[in-house]
Amino acid sequence: MSQAIYPGSFDPPTCGHLDIIERASKCFGLLKVAVFENVQKTPMFTTEERVSMLKDACAHLANVRVESYSGLLIDYCRANNTKIVVKGLRAVSDFDYEFKMALMNKKLAPEVETVFMITSLKYLYLSSSLVKEVAYYGGCIKGLVPSSVENMIFDRVRAKEQ
Ligand code: PNS
Repeated sequence: MSQAIYPGSFDPPTCGHLDIIERASKCFGLLKVAVFENVQKTPMFTTEERVSMLKDACAHLANVRVESYSGLLIDYCRANNTKIVVKGLRAVSDFDYEFKMALMNKKLAPEVETVFMITSLKYLYLSSSLVKEVAYYGGCIKGLVPSSVENMIFDRVRAKEQ
């Protein structure tokens, strides 16, 4: 069975992420959505929260699993016996960063291929950091994140203010 990994920070998961997950899940027998536990950053949501949000959002997709990883992505790929990494590409601005990451991963693990999936037009402008900023200033984030995630973001914003 073909298998791929879709890694990311997902802090928080957006509808853009979900769109890539839904489309990629049609291309592979098994898609593992992998939440990176970045010890160098303080995310809005813990790794467990992000995994749980993604599990909820992907509950309708039978061939999608959600896990977390720490350390190098290529080590996680090797441990899972997976040779395909899926990444989403939005604007040209993503390209430089993604291009360098893909090449570094290629250098570290020549057997692993990074496959880019172009964002759907309606999510071109969408990012986790913009969603957090809009929520922080009280703007509407309906339709930008899975509905189960919406309230969690506002709760976290309110908790930060106290
Ligand atoms: O959603 P993001 O923040 O664009 O995802 C980036 C992520 C988590 C996929 C990437 O930073 C990653 O895999 N980090 C794990 C550590 C690693 O392998 N670093 C070398 C990449 S060249």
